[in-house]
Amino acid sequence: MIADPDLHPIVRIAPAKVNLTLAIGPRRPDGYHELHSVMVPIGLADRLSVSRGHGAEDSLHVTGEDRPPRPDDLVLRGIAAARAAARRSVGPGAELGPLAARLEKRIPIAAGLAGGSSDAAAALEAALEAWGVTLAGHDRIAAAASVGSDVPFFLAHGPALVEGRGEQVTPLRGLRGEPAGILVVTPRLHVSTAAAFARLDQDPDAAPADRASSRVSSSHLADELRAGLRADDLVLRAGVLSTANDLVNATATLVPELRRVRRGLARLLGRPVGQSGSGPTLWALYPSATDAEAAASALAVAQAEGRLEAPGDGPAQIIATTIGGGRDG
Ligand code: C5P
Repeated sequence: MIADPDLHPIVRIAPAKVNLTLAIGPRRPDGYHELHSVMVPIGLADRLSVSRGHGAEDSLHVTGEDRPPRPDDLVLRGIAAARAAARRSVGPGAELGPLAARLEKRIPIAAGLAGGSSDAAAALEAALEAWGVTLAGHDRIAAAASVGSDVPFFLAHGPALVEGRGEQVTPLRGLRGEPAGILVVTPRLHVSTAAAFARLDQDPDAAPADRASSRVSSSHLADELRAGLRADDLVLRAGVLSTANDLVNATATLVPELRRVRRGLARLLGRPVGQSGSGPTLWALYPSATDAEAAASALAVAQAEGRLEAPGDGPAQIIATTIGGGRDG
């Protein structure tokens, strides 16, 4: 059936991601860094709907977030990238009319969860569907990468190994059996991804403890998730994975409070705590969603009682969710 965006909006669920590993190679001549990162979508998601617009331009209405959309909003950039790629693919005569997007925001913004990038990927795919345009795989990836390094990952719709600047995405089978639980804690601290990468290049205090070992851990996890790993076995690897993010020290030089929050969390939870991307989101892994929910409730009490430090603009957001059951249905 061909979607008719006049009758039914095209609806996309745009999940957050977590980096289970993030090994970073040297800075390239174009200013970006070579990555080797295992990324997984999690159950926490925004919801995007796209229908035919009635004005002269694309429009965006956002709920669940206390700021008006900015003109450079990633949803609008995703639609614009889709239009430019569609125009190149189908020629200048194509009907690629204005679209009206509505975004229900649940993923904390600027958190290391790539919520904006996921929204952009969802917008790109929804726009192509609304116009009835199919792009070749490499054109879709190039369009996604033109919006941001994290965007191509979301076209894979599942766990993946991400390399290059972010545009080389190899789907992995992921978890076998029941989903794993994950506790996601986002302190209200601001971290600029560009600043974290710049620190990594410039500040000896920001150097990773052991780059070679992050890379080995990342390759090893990618191999295991390629074959399929059970949730329990992923949890057993949490200690190693929590040390396999090369941006942790760089982020800590920018926001030293985050290191204290991380140590406090590890003490309270009694398990390893990792950082997603450039932070400030921290994660802990559990064998099931129920275990993660129990930990979230206990942590919310600890935070209310002042046993978890809450630097920045208020209490940390604490969310229990899942890492999906993988590609074997
Ligand atoms: O591509 P995007 O604009 O999302 O990246 C944000 C910043 O993160 C870039 O300006 C760059 O400083 C850094 N980055 C990097 N290497 C990558 C991805 C991002 O240095 N592979």
